[in-house]
Amino acid sequence: MDLFLEPERGRPLAEQLYQQLRRGIAEGRLRPGDRLVPSRQLAGELGVSRHTVTTAYGRLVAEGYAEGRAGGGSVVAPTSMLPQRPTGRSAALRPARRFGDWTPLFPARPPDHRFDLRPGQPERTLFPIAAWRRQVSAAIGSDCAVYGDPAGEIRLRRVIARWVARSRSVVADEDTVVITAGAQHAASLAAQVLLEPGDVVAVEEPGWWPARRLFAALGATVVGVPVDEQGLVVDLLPPGARIVYVTPSHQFPLGMTMSMPRRGALLRWAQDNDAAIFEDDYDTQFRYVDRPIEPLQALDRFGRVIYLGSFSKTLSPAVRLGFAVVPPPLAGPVAALRQLIDWHPPTSTQAALAGFIEAGLLDEHLRRTRRVYAERHRILAEALCGPLGRHLTAHIPGAGLHVAALLRDGLGEESVIQAALERGLLLMGLRRCYHGHPLEHGLVLAFSSISTTDLPPALRILGGVLGGYA
Ligand SMILES: Cc1ncc(COP(=O)(O)O)c(C=O)c1O
Repeated sequence: MDLFLEPERGRPLAEQLYQQLRRGIAEGRLRPGDRLVPSRQLAGELGVSRHTVTTAYGRLVAEGYAEGRAGGGSVVAPTSMLPQRPTGRSAALRPARRFGDWTPLFPARPPDHRFDLRPGQPERTLFPIAAWRRQVSAAIGSDCAVYGDPAGEIRLRRVIARWVARSRSVVADEDTVVITAGAQHAASLAAQVLLEPGDVVAVEEPGWWPARRLFAALGATVVGVPVDEQGLVVDLLPPGARIVYVTPSHQFPLGMTMSMPRRGALLRWAQDNDAAIFEDDYDTQFRYVDRPIEPLQALDRFGRVIYLGSFSKTLSPAVRLGFAVVPPPLAGPVAALRQLIDWHPPTSTQAALAGFIEAGLLDEHLRRTRRVYAERHRILAEALCGPLGRHLTAHIPGAGLHVAALLRDGLGEESVIQAALERGLLLMGLRRCYHGHPLEHGLVLAFSSISTTDLPPALRILGGVLGGYA
């Protein structure tokens, strides 16, 4: 904590020092257990006598703000002795109405559990820790001492442009790739650049609800558009939508692939209605049975598609890197906005990822994880076609890391989720993926956060829970 003493202020220096430290403790800048700087050192740094510092420390100790330690030195006292911090309830600190009483969608720590079948995370043990550590250590160089490019490091942009062109036929070059902190961040940047307040954004219904919330946070009017077995029902898009947000490779959460005719219809609709399409290709690298269809971005002849890519599933959500491939007119404004917000993701992490992809390690990692996930996909599919099929109806997609299944017999998802939690199994319901009122109850069953050996017992628990309602 910075301290500023003013000899000419007329108040004794020890008093000024005491007041500043006390305020630092009361306001939480100095936290319980923090060591106070040794008196000799602080006296030297501030250019005052040691007596001034020991007088201030002595008063903090006498009033319960600090405690002396047996081996010498003082630490900030436990919270119970400290005055309450102001709660900041003034009207000026009320969040804007559209944020209501929001709290984060995903809790930092899940409740105690044995098994986790919720979507969203790749399995920790599959992370290629040794290879990644080598790349990170090689990446820490002189570039780490200066601001980087707000569009992302050129080396990583080049590598990603080549990688998405090769693996997904996406048309990209270093000038149209923007490195972001994940796909959601990419959507946020592109939407901020495109939207005027009140603009309409169409999202899939059901769909990836954090995107829906993001667009609402940006002041957009969000409209849910139904999906059928071919993907988004283009005929039901609201006229005037400025952005259409879709997951065509593997619809989240229902899992269908958008058909080729639908892709054509969506691109034409966007052209006729002067809309942009956000193509979220969040887990496309995991396909087990058939070949992926060309992305909208590659089919787009009008320059209307913004392609959103993520390394959260292919590598790790903790690395927090993703990217957007944007039509050329948007690259400048997106990078400019990025610079205003947080400039760029850590350059060393970007360099590590560039090295990782260049060395072929991402492809190698994907081949390995695809095999592991393919086996789990098979186990889950068999269970859903077998014992679980009495209670759950699922159309099993040939891709992705989860399967959505509808609950039969009028079972309520909340009670199933609660009963499973009591048996140590974490589940996610389908209803939260709906923008409007969901008609059906269901589960989104993922096999990414659970090991292959744990998957069968977890599914048996689920069978037991569902059987308990029969
Ligand atoms: C459909 C969908 N889109 C986007 C994301 C977010 O990706 P990122 O972590 O790159 O922001 C996820 C994460 O699970 C997802 O499921």
